[in-house]
Amino acid sequence: MQQELFQPYRRLIEIQIEDQSHRVPDNNMVLRCFQYICLEDISCGRFCWNQECKTCMIGYELKSGEKKNTLSCQTMVSEGMKITKISKELRWALRSILPAAAENLS
Ligand code: FES
Repeated sequence: MQQELFQPYRRLIEIQIEDQSHRVPDNNMVLRCFQYICLEDISCGRFCWNQECKTCMIGYELKSGEKKNTLSCQTMVSEGMKITKISKELRWALRSILPAAAENLS
């Protein structure tokens, strides 16, 4: 059943969430990758998955140096992506891997 949540992927790629490295499936949106890491808590989170709630905001930096704030449900993951800012709701859903406080976007 877990496989059905994810778009078909060829391999796991490495991203950073704050200062932690994680391996997640390529060809998937970032929010889906968070779900890959914390399946139950993201699944139970209050996320619309379709650009309406805006609770899935992240800030990220790419290898190229490009920085952006965006919706993680609408952003394709890419190798080496560094996620530097995380909304309050996402932080709560990722609480099993992230420290409680820090910068948020909500
Ligand atoms: S999950 Fe609602 S806007 Fe991304």
